[in-house]
Amino acid sequence: MTTSGEAIRHLWTHKTQDHPWLPDEELVIDRAEGVWVWTERGKKLLDGFAGLAVVNVGHGRREIAEAIAEQTVRLAYYPTTRQFSNRPAAELAAKLAALAPGDLDYSMFAVSGAEANERAMQIARHYWLASGKPGKHKVLSLQGGYHGGTTGTFAVCGLPHMVEPYTALHVPGFTKITPPYPYRDRGTGTDEELVRRRAGDLRAAIGAEGPDTVSAVIMEPVISSGGFIMPPIGWLRAVRAICDELDVLMIADEVITGFGRTGRWFAVEHDGVVPDLMTVAKGITSGYVPLSAAIARGRLADAFADDATQENVHPGTYAAHPVACAAALANIKIIEQDNLVANAATMGARLLDGLQHAVGKRRIVGEVRGRGLMVCVELVEPDGSGRPLDKERVARLDRKAWDRGAIVYARGQVVRLAPPLCITREEVDTLVDVVAASIEELDAELS
Ligand SMILES: Cc1ncc(COP(=O)(O)O)c(C=O)c1O
Repeated sequence: MTTSGEAIRHLWTHKTQDHPWLPDEELVIDRAEGVWVWTERGKKLLDGFAGLAVVNVGHGRREIAEAIAEQTVRLAYYPTTRQFSNRPAAELAAKLAALAPGDLDYSMFAVSGAEANERAMQIARHYWLASGKPGKHKVLSLQGGYHGGTTGTFAVCGLPHMVEPYTALHVPGFTKITPPYPYRDRGTGTDEELVRRRAGDLRAAIGAEGPDTVSAVIMEPVISSGGFIMPPIGWLRAVRAICDELDVLMIADEVITGFGRTGRWFAVEHDGVVPDLMTVAKGITSGYVPLSAAIARGRLADAFADDATQENVHPGTYAAHPVACAAALANIKIIEQDNLVANAATMGARLLDGLQHAVGKRRIVGEVRGRGLMVCVELVEPDGSGRPLDKERVARLDRKAWDRGAIVYARGQVVRLAPPLCITREEVDTLVDVVAASIEELDAELS
């Protein structure tokens, strides 16, 4: 029996019509293994975006399923409010303290990436209150940045079309800074000059708001939803220095980039910086069960005495859910045992190289860029102007790849790839062939 269109219609969909050529019944994903997924109607596809850049260890890992089953039977739920805790939660918090850079040692767990970012901003706010600086409340962020779909995270969202319906709810002062976008903004200068320019903008924006009103700066190391924009290495170091200078907290949103995606455990490691707060989700469990965390540095935790009775950030019912934490522990064990962080670096380089060779010189290809297994091709108009290729035309790549047996993510002016980190050389080469043939066909259509 297959899923009926009538049943699917009861799912609240967000109507983006990414696959307008297919009826909903063709898009029921039924099972998956490694980097492959099968639709209910039996079509096999290479998962070139790991769901939503989530399934880092790949699909169908029995070890995680067994850890989930075991924990569910032993203790499916107990809160971590009211001073209670549970073993998987404590073990996971200790594991994250060991894995995360520097003294990012204290995890507040949540359920989604958005919630982790809400928690990070709330921890920052409580820190300033506890530090006797109650005026510090604003959070600055990047144009193009995405931190989740809740009202609080929309305040720091740099994608205007997404937040427009909610502007009446937003408080002033949550300024958006232009990120360093080398392909578009480097001009004839160097990456270092671009970083200096954008860092100058950030310093000026904090100055204009008044540093005594600014709590934090939040940003993604790679601006994912904004188009896989990869600021030069050195940008996060510059941000760190400004935050130190102006007494502002730095929040790194590693919801997509965490757990090996960029070829390091966490993307901030490319810059060698330690943010004050780091948020993680997606790859923490590879999506087997939802889980996220806001991880704080020692000095933030120290602001709240162990014997304090005044509650700071109020946790949710499912904070540190034992089953989700058990899934995360099993997931992290796989990442370690299968060397998936190193594999992401090697396979990411192969994917980038393969695409650069195959389509890098095509007239509709502006740039092929990547960091680990976040790789994209930025498309431009064929007239040599360098203008972004019309998004309707870019979107055709989804269909071309689908017809050739892969799921990719063509949105705006880029086609994005973020396959599971367990991808093999042969699978990378298949993905390169599919994407290259799709781009070649699009190029020919535009003649
Ligand atoms: C960088 C980043 N932050 C936060 C989020 C929000 O995560 P969630 O959808 O789990 O709330 C996303 C989702 O894609 C993301 O890419």
